[in-house]
Amino acid sequence: MAKVAVLGASGQIGQPLSLLLKMSNLVNDLFLYDVVHSVGVGVDLNQIDTPGKVQGFLPADNGLEQALAGAEVVVIPAGIARKPGMTRDDLFKTNAGVIKTLITAVATTCPKAYVCVITNPVNSTLPIAVEVLKQHGVFDARKVFGVTTLDVVRGSTFVAQELGDPNPKNYVVPLLGGHSGATILPLYSQCQPKVQLSQEQLERITYRVQFGGDEIVKAKAGAGSATTCMAYAGFRFIESILRARNGENGVVEAAYVYLPGIEGGQAVADRLQVDYFSTKLDFSKEGAVRAHSIGPLSEYEEKLLAAGLPELKVNISNGTAAATAKI
Ligand code: NAI
Repeated sequence: MAKVAVLGASGQIGQPLSLLLKMSNLVNDLFLYDVVHSVGVGVDLNQIDTPGKVQGFLPADNGLEQALAGAEVVVIPAGIARKPGMTRDDLFKTNAGVIKTLITAVATTCPKAYVCVITNPVNSTLPIAVEVLKQHGVFDARKVFGVTTLDVVRGSTFVAQELGDPNPKNYVVPLLGGHSGATILPLYSQCQPKVQLSQEQLERITYRVQFGGDEIVKAKAGAGSATTCMAYAGFRFIESILRARNGENGVVEAAYVYLPGIEGGQAVADRLQVDYFSTKLDFSKEGAVRAHSIGPLSEYEEKLLAAGLPELKVNISNGTAAATAKI
């Protein structure tokens, strides 16, 4: 059983994610923080007949520190989301400041907690989080993640849709890279089980995985971006962390991490010449204890990787610079 804090709990991701956490038997205390409505969201969730206790906090009376006190997992969907015509990078200025503030409080209040950053642009917000934790001398790469599980979920869903299979869970597709457009790299050549796709099908579903968020932003026409599917994906990721923390063996999830701090990660970083990357990770009681190698890529995937890396490198250096700049 764990204490989980959700920062940005009143938002379109925060609320359904908090609902899923309230329903989980791995969570006994759920602390919700937001700049608006979080007390009400907590009262609402507390009427559900599951044992977990929920409490909401607002900024007054050190609400952020109260929400974080004793937290073992902190999940952050706080900030602004995309509207039509916006890229994830358009969110950078506002969300960089939000992440700096929230991670500073994590560093001083619950420095040993797992930190799961959902706030976009993840390619940059994770480096900000890492730098802030480093500045406070409390960084442990095995416990600090940019959440890319939604890309993994999309990787399975879209191949199943393409093949007319009603069950996306039949397909396990490794997802590498960052979490935006061309930086996302689905490896259909390593799909389990093996799938036969024409080049046209492969390009179509690769594009859908890379730009699946745009499908939602467009369809919602200004009312938001990926929210319910993100709550599902975020919950899956947190549940995996908690299952491994409880001693379950064989837990593997992909996440965007600081590679040099994780066993096996330096080899991936050396191959790609980049310190941050999403790849499959083995989880244990201590967190993400081993980064998987990226394995053989097809010619098409090598091209995608080469196309995405320059953008990812810019995103990373923007994040690293923002961590020290005044925002
Ligand atoms: P939203 O606007 O519905 O909710 C954001 C919440 O954050 C609001 O309740 C707001 O009051 C709160 N907030 C703003 N500043 C805050 C602060 N300083 N401290 C605490 N709370 C604060 O947005 P939504 O749709 O829930 O998205 C949240 C973030 O998640 C966005 O940045 C979005 O781009 C990102 N996202 C990430 C995905 C991923 O795969 N990692 C997928 C989809 C969205």
